[in-house]
Amino acid sequence: MIQTNIDGKKITVIKGLVEKYNRPGPRYTSYPTAPNWKKGFATADFTRHLEKGNLSQTPLSLYFHIPFCEERCTFCACSVVATKRHEVAKPYLKTLLREIDKVAEVVDHKRMVEQLHLGGGTPTYFSSQQLETLIGHVQKYFSFSKTAEISIEIDPRVTADEQIQTLSRLGFNRTSLGLQDFDPEVQKEAGRIQSEEETRHIMETAREFGFKSVNVDLVYGLPKQAPEKFRATLKKVLALQPDRIALFNFAYVPWMHAHQRKIAEKDLPDGWTKLKMFCEAIETFQNAGFDFIGLDHFAKKEDELSHARRNGTMYRNFQGYTTKADCDLIGMGVTSISYVAGAFAQNAKKLKNYEDSVTKAGWATEHGMALSEDDLLRQKIIHEIFCHQRLKRSGDFNRYFEKEIAALKPLAEDGIVAIKPDEILVTPLGRFFLRNVGMIFDAYLKTGDGKFSKTV
Ligand SMILES: C[S@@+](CC[C@H](N)C(=O)[O-])C[C@H]1O[C@@H](n2cnc3c(N)ncnc32)[C@H](O)[C@@H]1O
Ligand code: SF4
Repeated sequence: MIQTNIDGKKITVIKGLVEKYNRPGPRYTSYPTAPNWKKGFATADFTRHLEKGNLSQTPLSLYFHIPFCEERCTFCACSVVATKRHEVAKPYLKTLLREIDKVAEVVDHKRMVEQLHLGGGTPTYFSSQQLETLIGHVQKYFSFSKTAEISIEIDPRVTADEQIQTLSRLGFNRTSLGLQDFDPEVQKEAGRIQSEEETRHIMETAREFGFKSVNVDLVYGLPKQAPEKFRATLKKVLALQPDRIALFNFAYVPWMHAHQRKIAEKDLPDGWTKLKMFCEAIETFQNAGFDFIGLDHFAKKEDELSHARRNGTMYRNFQGYTTKADCDLIGMGVTSISYVAGAFAQNAKKLKNYEDSVTKAGWATEHGMALSEDDLLRQKIIHEIFCHQRLKRSGDFNRYFEKEIAALKPLAEDGIVAIKPDEILVTPLGRFFLRNVGMIFDAYLKTGDGKFSKTV
């Protein structure tokens, strides 16, 4: 039995419940999930949706994927090209600039940029000058709103002070640092050695250069992680005083990322031990003044993300939880995903294919999907589950989701959801099973679907 408290409510988790619900399932960073998108969705479909957004003047969220890392961390499930040959950055940047040109031909320049994010891989694989060229090219076409969030993922092991200074000058105001775990044994097994000193140094440097929000990424479920050692990591993390914390459930998917085979399954903490560590993190962070947000995020009570959660305006996209709802997300770079006027589009996943396509045609759309009415409805439901844990049973809800409401009954008996006459709530206990609740509303999920990581 594990006892913890969420949002001031005491909860008890029993082992049988974890055993029952810990099965493969999507994280729902999108609905429908990417495996359901269609090959036939091509550039013409994508640009048609980009134009639709012009009509409504939907604000923009721009994402750029920089896939390079000098070395691949063993635990990593991101889309990465590992190489120490830094010269690869030059043709890649050239391709990105061409892609921006093409997007700018279609997208109305009066549409404001509310959000820009550089993700990876390791965006600081680009030199200061390359970062400057990239952002300068975006600014040539587009204007940023005064409240725009301009953010970047930073690996403290490979980022120079001078790059932080450049980013700050370019208007970057948010960063998330890859931290994962401070324990030396875990770091060795995860294939990522990172000292506390280098992490602290980059956090302090980012603050010094005026970054408004300095956040860290942690992972629970890594090989050789154990509650006592994890407790020490949590303490050290709090000492760094991050503004937000993402605590990701380790996605162990060796069938998708062969390099993860170096991690032996026997070295992984089981579902129960993982939950213990997660619960302890929740308590520790809440006691330190953080709110537990959605699936796996924490933000200070006074942070605008916590406010957005309380006001019901919080949103979740591929980069995590955000206050910026209702933007068209345009992803540029290899593997990047866009979500524009009700359609997903993803660029080519292989670097060569991406570069060849953009060089030849200016675009590299490989697959995607225009959402049907049913998709949009279910997308909204899954969004509510992951952001606010509350579904209103208004309008046609009861008739339309009759099957799903029936399927929720066993979850209600297990205390994961509360089915009330006018709404369905995910309980504080249910916060550990958001993915399982989401799966009930997923019209595409086949039973026995084993290609996802485990839900707990
Ligand atoms: C692109 S990386 C962050 C930037 C930079 N490459 C770094 O590692 O510092 C994004 C984050 O994804 C998370 N991540 C990577 N692989 C993961 C996995 N297998 N399971 C869960 N989270 C993972 C890590 O927390 C990582 O910091
Ligand atoms: S965790 Fe970050 S640095 Fe490590 S391989 Fe993945 S993207 Fe690269």
